[in-house]
Amino acid sequence: MKLRKLPKIALGAWAWGNDGTFGDQLNADSLRPVFDAAVKAGLNLWDTAYAYGVGTSEKTLGEFLRTLPRDSYLISDKFTPQCADLNAENAVTAMFETSAKLLGTDEMDIYWIHNPVGAPEWTRKLIPLAKSGKIGRIGLSNHNLAEIKEAAEILGAEGLKIAAVQNHYSLLNRSSETSGILDYCKENDITFFSYMVLEQGALSGKYDTKHPFPENSDRGAVYNPMLAQLEELNAGMKEIADRRGVSVALLPIAWAIAKGTLPIIGVTKVYQIEDAVKGARLELTDEEIETLERLAGKTPLNVIRFWEKEMK
Ligand SMILES: NC(=O)c1ccc[n+]([C@@H]2O[C@H](COP(=O)([O-])OP(=O)(O)OC[C@H]3O[C@@H](n4cnc5c(N)ncnc54)[C@H](OP(=O)(O)O)[C@@H]3O)[C@@H](O)[C@H]2O)c1
Repeated sequence: MKLRKLPKIALGAWAWGNDGTFGDQLNADSLRPVFDAAVKAGLNLWDTAYAYGVGTSEKTLGEFLRTLPRDSYLISDKFTPQCADLNAENAVTAMFETSAKLLGTDEMDIYWIHNPVGAPEWTRKLIPLAKSGKIGRIGLSNHNLAEIKEAAEILGAEGLKIAAVQNHYSLLNRSSETSGILDYCKENDITFFSYMVLEQGALSGKYDTKHPFPENSDRGAVYNPMLAQLEELNAGMKEIADRRGVSVALLPIAWAIAKGTLPIIGVTKVYQIEDAVKGARLELTDEEIETLERLAGKTPLNVIRFWEKEMK
């Protein structure tokens, strides 16, 4: 498929899958204005996965995307090993086809191996799809440096290349930076997508001890116990945000861009689209970056989630 230039940020639709992670029940009626605001703002790169609510996120996104010309947006979708149909002749192709149907497309601008569980096999199984021209870019998610290099070798032998890496990367989790993955990506012309730059809202200014995450959610279970420890970092972010006359959520977005990455921002409200646009335009000073990193460094919280590992 025709390769189109990647924008500065992507929008994430995990919460759209209503799988219990976020604690809000979203539907096409509540999300339609969010999608419309994104289109109006010119944000057109959408990240999703079949795993996000077993097709629920893709179905809702697909309903909206169907109303637009295919060349006006980019889709970033994933093969999740844990959802593989092991009876299929090629489980990667099978999941791709299911997702493509839900999204109303034949092609994916980026298609990822969602995590490295059984990865060398899945990387090999991705090859026919990549050669068919139905994938613009090949991506690897949640892979450490050794796993990325292993995949690069497998793909390279077939004349294919990793175009993108997608890992958890935030002020509270910089292990993709310290482990050399960011540098490897730069050296090999691979776009690094950072996910959870807002730590699912814990670094957005919206949640604190007085305004905790929904109790009945995975993110509540993970971040509510950390909110007291995050107070100093959040207060520091608020000080910078107030000085710049912006909302706190813009800072982690601008920080991720300043670090040379492409952040995927999870959005569930119209104002979050507006903030995402502003965050992509905000240029932080070296001093502001240093302050954010210093404050975050003083808050050594373990934010590695159940599907992740520390990138060494
Ligand atoms: N490859 C992987 O394994 C993987 C893993 C995780 C995520 N991802 C991708 O990355 C995307 C982003 O991650 P995420 O959605 O989990 O977390 P995130 O982007 O760190 O946080 C999203 C949440 O932050 C809040 N938020 C967003 N903008 C805000 C603003 N301007 N002001 C205040 N709060 C704001 C919203 O909370 P409320 O909804 O409560 O308003 C939103 O649901 C996902 O949607 C998914 O596409 C990929």
